[in-house]
Amino acid sequence: MKKISLALAASTMFAFASGAFAADLAAGKAAYDKFTCASCHGADGKTSIMPAYPILAGQHEDFLRHALRSYKRGAAGAPASANIRKNAIMGAMVAQLSNTDINNIAAWLSKQPSPLAVRK
Ligand code: HEC
Repeated sequence: MKKISLALAASTMFAFASGAFAADLAAGKAAYDKFTCASCHGADGKTSIMPAYPILAGQHEDFLRHALRSYKRGAAGAPASANIRKNAIMGAMVAQLSNTDINNIAAWLSKQPSPLAVRK
């Protein structure tokens, strides 16, 4: 029994360690579609339906993750000092996302072709 739980603990730790770095791009696209992000930001993440809806494709992955978590903190009622974003639309959208969804969506969006680029 002890051996089994040790093995279980070891494999759980491995899953955490690998999960932290390996975002799943296909799952990111699937989550983007499932949570209807495309209805505002466009299926490709860059053809948004209104100028006020930002282009997400090609944006930096860590920026996207940070933005989504900030909306989540804002929607959860965290104080302004907790680096929040307050937005009624996005607050409601991110409330449904797990951390894994956020990681995968951010990774997938950052890999999409886009007019966002560093110009030199
Ligand atoms: C009903 C329209 C709508 C839907 C659906 C929607 N968004 Fe947004 N999104 C917006 C608007 C409007 C903003 C700008 C909000 C603001 O001013 O902070 C925004 C902002 C963002 C930002 C911040 C971008 C930046 O450059 O700061 C990210 C990231 C984002 N959305 C991702 C998503 C994801 C992922 C989904 C699906 C889970 C989604 N959005 C669904 C309208 C929408």
